[in-house]
Amino acid sequence: MANNIAFCIAMAFIVLCSTVSTQAQYNLPEELAKKLNRNNETLSIASTDYGNIFHQTPWAVLEPSLVSDISSLINYSNSLSTPFTIAQRGQAHSTKGQANAPHGVVVNMTNFKRYGSRISVPHCDVNSETGCYADVGSEQVWIDLLRKTLEYGLTPLAWTDYINLSIGGTLSNAGISGQAFRHGPQISNVLEMDVITGKGDFVTCSKKKNSEIYYAVLGGLGQFGVITRARIVLGPAPTMANQEYLVSYSKRNETIIADFVQGMIILNHPPVDLSFYQESDQQRINSLITQNDLIYYVEIVKYYDNTTQAHIKEDVEYLVKGLNYIPTFRFERDNTYEEFMNRYGGIRALDRSPSASNPWLDMLVPSSRILDINEGVYKNIILKNNITGSTYLCFPVNRNK
Ligand SMILES: Cc1cc2nc3c(=O)[nH]c(=O)nc-3n(C[C@H](O)[C@H](O)[C@H](O)COP(=O)(O)OP(=O)(O)OC[C@H]3O[C@@H](n4cnc5c(N)ncnc54)[C@H](O)[C@@H]3O)c2cc1C
Ligand SMILES: *[C@@H]1O[C@H](CO)[C@@H](O)[C@H](O)[C@H]1NC(C)=O
Ligand SMILES: *[C@@H]1O[C@H](CO)[C@@H](O)[C@H](O)[C@H]1NC(C)=O
Ligand SMILES: *[C@@H]1O[C@H](CO)[C@@H](O)[C@H](O)[C@H]1NC(C)=O
Ligand SMILES: *[C@@H]1O[C@H](CO)[C@@H](O)[C@H](O)[C@H]1NC(C)=O
Ligand SMILES: *[C@@H]1O[C@H](CO)[C@@H](O)[C@H](O)[C@H]1NC(C)=O
Ligand SMILES: *[C@@H]1O[C@H](CO)[C@@H](O)[C@H](O)[C@H]1NC(C)=O
Ligand SMILES: *[C@@H]1O[C@H](CO)[C@@H](O)[C@H](O)[C@H]1NC(C)=O
Repeated sequence: MANNIAFCIAMAFIVLCSTVSTQAQYNLPEELAKKLNRNNETLSIASTDYGNIFHQTPWAVLEPSLVSDISSLINYSNSLSTPFTIAQRGQAHSTKGQANAPHGVVVNMTNFKRYGSRISVPHCDVNSETGCYADVGSEQVWIDLLRKTLEYGLTPLAWTDYINLSIGGTLSNAGISGQAFRHGPQISNVLEMDVITGKGDFVTCSKKKNSEIYYAVLGGLGQFGVITRARIVLGPAPTMANQEYLVSYSKRNETIIADFVQGMIILNHPPVDLSFYQESDQQRINSLITQNDLIYYVEIVKYYDNTTQAHIKEDVEYLVKGLNYIPTFRFERDNTYEEFMNRYGGIRALDRSPSASNPWLDMLVPSSRILDINEGVYKNIILKNNITGSTYLCFPVNRNK
């Protein structure tokens, strides 16, 4: 059994602590008050998130229709002797209350969707190094951006695995998936943003303009301002994706570069989702897992289109050549690019919060310590204690991205 994993990811979900004001009677400006929702049902939705661990009721939910509504809310709060907590909420796939505002106001960013799609037609600037980009409302979800840009033969470059997440929500974290080793996380692929700061100012920022705000907000866990628009880098879209699943992967000649690399660890505990594989293969994989307690596999994807189709098989052989894996445990599948990107779409368990608590932990691990994680965590904690029901993913990332 190969056991040389060379990588792992990270990005920490930091729990946000908020000052809690007691139940208050606020004397809001009428225009603002009209946009606050205090219905039981709405407050109850806003009191929790995908993790289903943290439950605290906000005082109200703001349903903005204009960007200035958010600014008005912040200004109003700042005018009080004890300002209330404000948190912006996208798809609420946070797992520990990051998009919640106990006793304060949750800004429902998704409400902007009722006022049009806010995804601009992609723009390509042939005379600048900027290339192609799309301007997108931060409430929009990545799957909708993908579908829109594909109409123009373009696509964002950096992704998360599950892509029904809001632009503002993932840009507040990092946005990491199997493309990160080539393109960096999503926050490395943003040209410009509109942000409302904690002082209620509306600011356009980029690497050159208001750069302090730009760098603070990206990966800023929602604490440095509300993103209202982001300009996302696009590249040419391939039409197809060839997925290879291999047991093990090691560092090698990368003249022909994969487009996506993801590692997964499967432990001898249910549930193991093997739906990718044929039924007969599922049985073989299950017995491999039973025999070994722990298996490592790697998914490598090479994108192609009708101009590169002729040599896709050769390219894939090249990528796979020299890897240390069990030859009879190599599996392959071709999908359209869109099918591949949305491979976790429509999985009910991912679309909505489960009834049980659902913690997720992401960490960035230097490659020099990855074997320690393997021994110390996978073998000596998880395996030894028979901890079941979890998924363990690894993504290679390059520091310079
Ligand atoms: C099933 C599942 C799979 C996931 N897969 C991946 C993955 O493969 N890769 C990865 O990197 N991450 C992944 N994540 C983590 C995910 O990227 C983050 O939880 C992300 O924040 C979710 O986006 P959201 O729209 O649900 O954000 P929310 O949970 O709504 O918000 C997250 C944070 O961003 C803030 N925020 C939201 N909108 C804005 C805005 N417009 N401006 C400023 N701040 C804002 C919120 O206040 C909060 O602090 C996954 C999470 C789950 C539950
Ligand atoms: C809903 O709110 C009303 C007051 O507006 C309250 O009397 C009632 O108990 C609440 N119901 C639930 C289920 O919380
Ligand atoms: C936010 O708004 C959307 C769209 O109107 C709605 O579907 C969702 O339930 C709202 N969420 C909260 C917490 O109010
Ligand atoms: C909120 O206050 C800021 C800072 O004074 C100001 O620039 C902004 O216009 C105000 N917003 C609104 C909607 O009045
Ligand atoms: C990588 O592969 C290419 C193409 O086969 C070859 O030209 C090159 O010498 C190789 N590089 C290394 C470092 O092996
Ligand atoms: C390749 O695909 C594009 C659209 O993706 C199409 O316009 C073009 O005609 C195709 N070329 C060939 C040679 O099939
Ligand atoms: C995204 O998730 C929402 C629930 O937040 C769901 O209503 C919607 O159908 C999902 N969209 C897609 C494209 O899967
Ligand atoms: C884990 O399961 C094995 C086999 O079923 C059992 O022998 C062992 O005691 C269990 N360990 C713990 C910590 O429960």
